[in-house]
Amino acid sequence: CGIVGYIGTRAATEILLAGLEKLEYRGYDSAGVATVSEGNLDCVRAKGKLCNLQEKLESLNNPARLGIGHTRWATHGKPEEYNAHPHTDTNRRLAVVQNGIIENYRDLRSKLKAKGHEFRSETDTEVIPHLIADYLSVSGNSFLDAVRQAVNDLKGAFAIAAICADYPDELIVARQQAPLVIGFGQGEFFCASDTPALVQYTKAILPLENGELARITPLGVEVYNFAGDKLRKAPRTLNWNPVMVEKQGFRHFMLKEIYEQPGVVRACLEAYLSSGWQSEAGTSPINLGLPSELFSEVQQIQIVACGTSWHAALVGKYLLEQLAGIPTNVHYASEFRYAPPPLTPNTLTIGISQSGETADTLAALTMEQQRRADKEPRWQARLLGITNRPESSLAQLVPHIIDTHGGIEIGVAATKSFVAQLMAFYCLTLDFAAHRQSLSTTEIEKMLGGLQQLPAQMELILESQERYIEELAHSYVDTTDFIFVGRGISFPIALEGALKLKEISYIHAEGYPSGELKHGPIALLDAKVPVVSIAIPGKVYEKALSNAQEAKARDSELIGVTQLNDEEAAEIFDKILPVPPVDELLSPILTVIPLQLLAYHIAARRGLDVDQPRNLAKSVTVE
Ligand code: G6P
Repeated sequence: CGIVGYIGTRAATEILLAGLEKLEYRGYDSAGVATVSEGNLDCVRAKGKLCNLQEKLESLNNPARLGIGHTRWATHGKPEEYNAHPHTDTNRRLAVVQNGIIENYRDLRSKLKAKGHEFRSETDTEVIPHLIADYLSVSGNSFLDAVRQAVNDLKGAFAIAAICADYPDELIVARQQAPLVIGFGQGEFFCASDTPALVQYTKAILPLENGELARITPLGVEVYNFAGDKLRKAPRTLNWNPVMVEKQGFRHFMLKEIYEQPGVVRACLEAYLSSGWQSEAGTSPINLGLPSELFSEVQQIQIVACGTSWHAALVGKYLLEQLAGIPTNVHYASEFRYAPPPLTPNTLTIGISQSGETADTLAALTMEQQRRADKEPRWQARLLGITNRPESSLAQLVPHIIDTHGGIEIGVAATKSFVAQLMAFYCLTLDFAAHRQSLSTTEIEKMLGGLQQLPAQMELILESQERYIEELAHSYVDTTDFIFVGRGISFPIALEGALKLKEISYIHAEGYPSGELKHGPIALLDAKVPVVSIAIPGKVYEKALSNAQEAKARDSELIGVTQLNDEEAAEIFDKILPVPPVDELLSPILTVIPLQLLAYHIAARRGLDVDQPRNLAKSVTVE
């Protein structure tokens, strides 16, 4: 879902719509806006895409200078207009938009109904305007008092924005476990659930923290905690520009973002490598701003993540174990929370999330912190976040973050943010390996040299492969199943290749370790099921090739992501997607690119909505 709000001197509706457009990528099934002008509240909503709402609003020519808007992804109640936000109170004097889930809404609704409030939707959100209206009817209460009392009654995770016809100069926002950012303009203010909606208007932003609410008027912003104490807050500057949220001539954001990957790797290297490293044993060429005791104390690592971030974590595990010698486990965040492994001392817990807002990941980290809170120092939680959004909830939750420098990603299917996450793991591993001397300085220098070559190698793949992959994609438009296999560090890339394909093309795809093919999935193979095998010369190369041949013997078409000009591979594979020669350990950054392009072109060829695949959302802020 997405929230936007505006108060200032311009026509609010246009600004709200433009903001909602920038949030479209988060996924939604209905949208709406509410505005206040001349003592009236107007609320317009529509089912489906934003253009439906746009059409309804066009004829109205609404002069209002204050309003809120919302795109909804159904959780409680069907995606129908009557369930779309904004929701209003019985007298239609005040309107509220909400992201999140109100857990105690049934209880609140029955109490409010008993008091005579009339409900018009099936949503949990609708209790909020009624509750605020209820408090507003108590004499002496201001709009701000009423919202503050209402949010104190709500259980769950939420971010809200509210307006009221009787308070034509106030926009009130509140946050509890769901993101909300205020934007500062010249004599105007904005709010949004995510920063891309704000970048076209301002770079000065203030992300609210949990348990905070703000009263925004044309004169300024006042921030309070839920107890009512006024807080001192200053906005920060965002280092984004509006061009980043445009397609710049590419057909889809996803394709643009695939092409941005060499630049992302360059940006990461610039940010993470210290310039003056003297190749001295025990010193590190990496600067992630982490405290030095972390490197000496940590005995094991656990990583929590979801989706593509979970795949990056698997690559991270491989690197941390094989190069830094630290036992590392990777958990799905949604599983970790309810079945955590037994406590171990000196354990670093890493939460990795490109958005920094994924509810499952945040909940897993919070649980870890709580279950260690009253323990002795060596059992205390050591939390590290890896995120592309340094202003996110994840960054607020943990003491240290690695900012992945991927730049804003609009396509729902993660591409450049994944590559950026891999870069963070390469550098974190090298930092550990250098401090703990698990690699020699020569080995470290070799890795650094390899990392620096990656951007040019990535550019070569993009330049030489895209046309071919686009053509190849034509032959898979009607394919119904794909298998992706890889061994060792290529296994997570097989998973990621399969995930990309299913997310955007809706073709069934599975990723397997190459050696597991014979233990089950081989039963699926025939001439109709292509097998994509990632096989890069190194530790497991010969084994990976012979596993691929097992598939060929079952008539499957074999597509190899393998090294350029490799004669052995050329004999085995029917189709080859080559990458330049690269150390196997660094190969994921290259091998993932042909797989992203393959998924992209198959989906584009099928005429699908690549940037906003059905049922998916860019960041999932519900557990
Ligand atoms: C959603 C997205 C996936 C993403 C996952 C984790 O399901 O559709 O593309 O990988 O969330 O997101 P995060 O922001 O935590 O990396």
